[in-house]
Amino acid sequence: MILITGGAGYIGAHVALELMNQGDDVLILDNLCNSYRSTLDRIATLTGRRPGFVLGDVRNRALLDTIFADYPIEAVIHCAGLKAVGESVREPLRYYDTNVGGTVTLCQAMAHAGVFTLLFSSSATVYGDCLTMPIDETCATGQPTNPYGQSKLMAENVMKSMVCSDERWSVGLLRYFNPIGAHRSGLLGEAPTSTPNNLLPYLLQVASGQRAALSVFGRDYETPDGTGVRDYIHVMDLAEGHVKALDALRHQHGVHVWNLGTGMGYSVLEVVRAFEKVSGISVPLVFEGRRAGDIARCWADPEKALSELGWSARRSLERMLADAWRWECHLHEAKAVPLVS
Ligand code: NAD
Ligand code: WQD
Repeated sequence: MILITGGAGYIGAHVALELMNQGDDVLILDNLCNSYRSTLDRIATLTGRRPGFVLGDVRNRALLDTIFADYPIEAVIHCAGLKAVGESVREPLRYYDTNVGGTVTLCQAMAHAGVFTLLFSSSATVYGDCLTMPIDETCATGQPTNPYGQSKLMAENVMKSMVCSDERWSVGLLRYFNPIGAHRSGLLGEAPTSTPNNLLPYLLQVASGQRAALSVFGRDYETPDGTGVRDYIHVMDLAEGHVKALDALRHQHGVHVWNLGTGMGYSVLEVVRAFEKVSGISVPLVFEGRRAGDIARCWADPEKALSELGWSARRSLERMLADAWRWECHLHEAKAVPLVS
């Protein structure tokens, strides 16, 4: 059985679905601070099985000890965390407590229970403002410009030290680039509980009429059209990457870092235009100044994951946007629109 912390959230739920479709048993631990219990019903509808669920906090050591005593957990995928960059600037202690403290507590409970296989939801944010593209795993980790990014880097370092001290550990640090999209059924996707900060969820709310216009942050970057360029990756490709990484960890010890990205960069305007094409909806834009802490460009070299895991992202940007829009339409019961297959 695989324990997924934060498994009711956006990425964890897609990982749970993918593992269950492959026949694994899944137990989700989530305090639902940024997700909904109904996600479990959606996973059950899509897989025909219900994941196990414990409502609780990953910082609660006593609860973790009970979970490891009660369930035959072989490995943990640690997605639980707080992820809003702006909020992390306002509430840094909450971010360090959850993202670093939660990781330490989880690792302590795992070691106590004799479970040494761990996959961690890290982020390309640990590279900071890298000057050369694409970014491979040998690029030095930089100076993330906000407490969220720092907390991810600190959590990585905690786990690296831990692995150095005890060779029984098998740890995978998965550095996600920009996950977007949804399950193609339109039944599972990202459901922001507050105003979205990220490009795609905000764009979807504009397209579905919940917000007036999309702010484009900066049009004077050194990029082909002046807007920020990112490596957007379909959440189902990301989920498949977790399954492959977990398989790899079963056969090797130590700490392993893998970028999960496509290797392709798209600008904000390219994403907007591609979305307009697949949805047939025009997105009103307002050009604004650069957002504090943003970088101009960021995309992955995904070669290491290909050679070591046999994984590569295969879904196109159009597919990511079509699936995301199908989910948004389902969420708001908006009128169906033609979508690319
Ligand atoms: P999300 O907010 O949808 O999911 C996180 C889940 O963790 C939520 O269900 C939340 O309720 C739960 N959670 C938060 N604190 C908890 C705690 N103390 N105890 C138990 N559960 C807790 O976010 P997501 O997009 O699915 O991200 C998952 C992980 O991936 C996070 O660690 C995030 O930092 C990381 N990540 C996300 C992105 C992205 O763009 N979405 C990119 C890189 C890395
Ligand atoms: C993408 C591009 C914006 C919103 C963040 C975190 C990172 C990771 C993913 C978790 C940028 C532009 C955005 C908007 C815009 N999360 N934009 N208007 O900043 O690459 O990464 O989420 O680990 O750590 O920093 O993603 O989606 O916020 O922005 O113009 O309303 O879209 O300026 O160029 P980002 P994003």
